[in-house]
Parts: sequence; C-alpha cells; structure tokens
Amino acid sequence: MTAALPYANGPVHIGHLAGCYLPADIYARYLRANKGEVLFVCGSDEHGVPITIKAKKEGITPQQVVDKYHEMMKKAFHEFGISFDIYSRTSNKIHYETASEFFKTLYDKGVFMEETTKQYYDETAQQFLADRYIVGTCPVCDNDKAYGDQCEKCGSSLNATDLKNPHSTLSGSIPILRETKNWFLPLDKLSSKIMEYIESHKDWKANVYGQCKSWLVSGDGLQPRAMTRDLDWGVPVPLPNAQGKVLYVWFDAPIGYISATKEYAQSIQKPESWKDWWQSNDSRLIHFIGKDNIVFHCLIFPAMLMEHGNYILPDQVPANEFLNLEGDKISTSRNWAVWLHEYLTEFKDMQDILRYTLCSNLPENKDNDFTWKDFQAKNNNELVAILGNFINRTLVLTHKYFEGKVPEQSSLHDIDQACLNEIEKAPARISESIEKFKFREALAEMMNLARAGNKYLADTEPWKLYGKDNDRVKTILHISLQLTANLAILCEPFLPFSAKKIRQMLNMESCHWDKLNHCMLTTGHQLGDTSLLYSKIEDSVIEAQIIKLQDSKKQNDMAEAAGKPVLPQKAETSFEEFSKMDIRTGTIIEAERVPKTDKLLKLKVKTGIDERTVVSGIAEYYEPEKIIGQKVCMLVNLAPRKIKGIESKGMILMAENERGELSFVNVVKDFSDGAVVK
Ligand code: 2FM
Ligand code: ZN
Repeated sequence: MTAALPYANGPVHIGHLAGCYLPADIYARYLRANKGEVLFVCGSDEHGVPITIKAKKEGITPQQVVDKYHEMMKKAFHEFGISFDIYSRTSNKIHYETASEFFKTLYDKGVFMEETTKQYYDETAQQFLADRYIVGTCPVCDNDKAYGDQCEKCGSSLNATDLKNPHSTLSGSIPILRETKNWFLPLDKLSSKIMEYIESHKDWKANVYGQCKSWLVSGDGLQPRAMTRDLDWGVPVPLPNAQGKVLYVWFDAPIGYISATKEYAQSIQKPESWKDWWQSNDSRLIHFIGKDNIVFHCLIFPAMLMEHGNYILPDQVPANEFLNLEGDKISTSRNWAVWLHEYLTEFKDMQDILRYTLCSNLPENKDNDFTWKDFQAKNNNELVAILGNFINRTLVLTHKYFEGKVPEQSSLHDIDQACLNEIEKAPARISESIEKFKFREALAEMMNLARAGNKYLADTEPWKLYGKDNDRVKTILHISLQLTANLAILCEPFLPFSAKKIRQMLNMESCHWDKLNHCMLTTGHQLGDTSLLYSKIEDSVIEAQIIKLQDSKKQNDMAEAAGKPVLPQKAETSFEEFSKMDIRTGTIIEAERVPKTDKLLKLKVKTGIDERTVVSGIAEYYEPEKIIGQKVCMLVNLAPRKIKGIESKGMILMAENERGELSFVNVVKDFSDGAVVK
C-alpha cells in the first residue's frame, strides 16, 4: 500500500489527510487486523519545481527546504497516528540508485524516444520553464492558472506547449521557444496496452475509471510525454550526454514507492524482501491518492512498470476528491487551512476527534467541506454522547457494583440476544464497507454498534435494577462489556488512540477481527482504571479557531494587496484628448437597485447642470439607501447608453482596487454641484 508522496514544500493540512493519508491509514490498520501481511509505504517527494519555487520564496536552498519540511511532515504524520511502515524521502541514495536504474532499463530497452523539441525558455531568468515554472490557460477547461504539466482544475495532464497565453512564474515574462533534447515516453504508442489495463479494472471507483477512460479516448488521446527536464534539481539523467538534465519529478516520485520498500527491507535485515511486494504475483499494489494524481498513478506509472517488465501493476487506485474548509478551497499560499502541526499543539491528545470528523466527511465521491462547527458537533453529539457515554457508563457501573470485575452472564432475554446479534454482525458490516473503500460508511457502521450499546443500556436501565435483581444487572453489564471489547478492536482503524485507551481500561490485548466474538472478556476478568474518553468542546474553543482563520485570511488579503503590482500605465494620451472629458462634481439624490441584476444601481444625480439618471455598477459595494447625499465626480458628456432598458447619461468615477472592489472618488471640500474637475 502506498499513500502519495507529499511534496516536502510545506506542512501537512487537513486536505492532505482527507485526500489520502487518513483513508490509507484506516485501510492499513484494517488489513493488519484481518489479513496480516501489509506494507504501508510513503515518504517525502523532494524533487520538482514545487521545491525550487519554495526555496526561492523562502530565500533558502532546495536542500534546506526539503530538510525542513521532511522532518516536520514525518513528525506530524507520526503524531497523528498515520501508521506508515516506513516514511522515506526521495533524496535518499537508494532512491537515486533505484530511479536511475529504472530509467536506464527503459532506455536500454529502447522504450524512450530521444527528441529535440522546442521548449519554453525564460530569457530573463535564463532557464527552461518546466512544469510549475510556467502557467497559462488550460486548452481543455480554460482555467487560466494551469501549470506546464497539469491543470489542477480539470485534472488534464498537459505539455507546456499546450498552454494558451503562457508566462513564466519566475519573471512574469512571456517565454520564448528554444530547442532542447529530452527523452519521451511514447504514451501514444502504449495507448492500447494502457487501455487494456484500464479496462481490466472496471472495479475501480467510478471517478477514477471514468477519468482514465476519458483521457484515453478524448481529443487526440495520449501524447508522448517528456520524462526528463532541463533543471538543476532532481535525479540526474543517467546518460553520458545529458548534462544539466534531471528526471521528471513524476518519473522519479512513484519509483519512490519502490525505493521506500527497499529501504524498509534493508531496515529489517532482509534486503531482497522488497521483491516480495513488487515483483511477486501474490502481492497486490494499492495506491491511495488525491484526484489530481490520477493520471500519474493510473496511466503513466503503470506504463512505466509495464515497459520495465519486472513489476506488478497497481491493482486499486482509490482516489479521493478534495476537502474544502469552511466553504472555501484549502490553499497553502492563502493560509486557508487547518495545519496538522498546529492542531496537534492546540488540541493535545485529541487526534481521534479530528480523525473522526475527517473520516465522516471524506470526499469519497465529491468534494466535501470541513467546518469547525461540524467538528464540535461530531465531538459533542457523537463521540461524547454515543461512544464515550456508552463505554463510560458500562465501565463506571462495573467498578461501582462489581469491583471492576467482569460479572457473570445468566439467562438471556430477547433484548440481550438482540444486542449479542448486533455484536456478531458488526465486523462483517464494517469489513464490507472498508473493502469497498467506503470509509464513511464503515465508520457509521462502527458507530451503529456503539449506538446499539447505548440503546441497550437505556432500555435495560441496570442502575434501576441494582439491589432488586442483581443477576439481571450482571448479565446486562457482562454483555455491555463484551460489546465494549468489540468496539475497542473495531474502532482501531478509525480511532487508534481511543482504541488503545479502551483496551487499557478493559485490561485487554489487541486481536485479529476473526477472533472477535461475544466472549472477549472472561467472567471475573479484572478491568483497569477508568477515565473519560472524550469531553465536550465549548463554543469559545470553536469561535477562537474561526477567528484565527478569518484573521489569517485578512492578513493574507492585505499581504496580497501590498505585494500585487499596480496595473501598468496605459498608452500615452494628449491634453486635448483629456480636455474633451467634461467631469463635474455632483450629488446622488435618489438610488435604487435595477431589478434582476446583482451589480447595478439606478441613480439620480444633481450635476449642477441638471438632474439626470445614471446606471452604475456599484450595487455590490454600496447599499442604495446609504448613498443618498453622496458627493461624486461624474463624466457628464459621455454619450448616453441604454443599460437594462434605462437610459444612462454619464458615468460616476470610481476607484477599483486589485480585488475589483469599488470606491467613490470623493470631492474633499464642500463644493457645490457642477464644479469642473480638471
Ligand atoms: O501531488 C503531490 O503532492 C505529489 N508529490 C504526489 C506524488 S505521488 C508519487 F508518485 F510519489
Ligand atoms: Zn483544465
């Protein structure tokens, strides 16, 4: 099992977790508790333009960037309970060797086309513009922020020369085309093999299968793709005539999964055992990724593996859509994110609450939203009120009545049997959902078992029976304890920290799911000490987080505005031309919205010459009732125009900032209407 190697260019946020690390971790933990043999690998992706761009921004070297973020990400994943067997990095020697060897094998087999083509070059920065060094308009969806290798909006994989209006992200200049030699993977020629492979995976999630099919058949189909770049950061192309060239990051990064496995194999003193995972037909390869990585994992990497010949191919690629935050796209550059390292310090020992909220909102089939209010509700109404409440009542009552020893079960009533049936059915229900990669559904099934326990206690009310019918109390608590023991095991993939705590409170070991039954705790078994699993989160805590987000947005908007270059000066004009404009001061005396429009106000303005109607596009910024009496500057000799059926005679002058916000241009002194502006 792999989870996408994150670029080591920034800390981990909740979008990363929901995209692939959390579902992958749930799956890995589930497999370990059921099928035994699983290896879960990941690591930092330390090459490519995302790293060099970050280095420029922070004024440090690419090596310093990856050293800083690799450690930070590794620590955050670990503290959040993401149970990688290894978290490696692509700057490792073993990775350089593996990636070079892989490239060399394909080269020796004659897989690549060596071609001299024209690539974009920035004359100011004096370098070729690969991948994210170039942005332009996507030829597929018209997104004007598409990168040279990919459009993140529609997911299309692009060549830089496909972009419309390309410009350099290094200098902002329009690049020129310059010849350079690169090695291409002929995806066009491999297309039928790839098609056959994809078509043998109709079991993939609909979004994944559908995207792959559409890339294969739409437009001109797959095109050759350069696997090398003219850059100075990356794995050097292992050929004698390739100075100054490195492997394309999307060539080396997925090979990082193989290198990570090799590193793991060495760490357990079985250096050859990596082959059991990658080259053996009884192994199954599963890639957990976000949707922007589909093309690389489903088409390009499999094509590389096929052409190499010694590897198994990905069997499943359960890609998720994106998670938004409070209704807005998560963005590192705009600081619109919940950062994992910050969460871990602000919500100490509360990893499972975030895991729970994220899991119940995983963007499995469509983009989804994280809100702090929902986080609070999930904690207070579900973890505290259902799971925590059931377990706490069971344990506290057992300590109170039976000195913390599991009481014996005597004759069963129907309600007891019904509860035992729920216990029996739960593992299969949860397994079924997990195996279909439906983690939200699986989590709901786990919670349904806790709900059944809660209801069982509420219906049987053992606290009312104590002293009257102690045998009955014993039976009820015996069953409740068995249910708790099952929950301790079944919640582990989702809530590993809670699982551990519950096991400690029950004083029990972990076990495989096939050992689950309703006799997990023997009569007389001594429980451990009890403490609360979860506690309520107050409104003030949530409000503080919302304010923090809003503040960071404000700061960001301000920084963005300050850093944004003003529009360049327009072409020169003459005084004569300017003198033709008759600009006067005036006063708005009436204002109303133009029906069925969002932006337009119909204004009556006293111009000193007359009173006239003007239609102005300011409705998003000014309420009509608040601008009566507003002094304005107005171009009065603009030819009348009909706007939405209203004749507009003139134009109010407005200032517009870089975000498109409008403001009146004011007359500071109290001049009467009709004063000339010149
Ligand atoms: O999108 C990303 O963050 C990439 N660094 C993912 C790479 S996945 C793999 F191929 F290594
Ligand atoms: Zn696009």
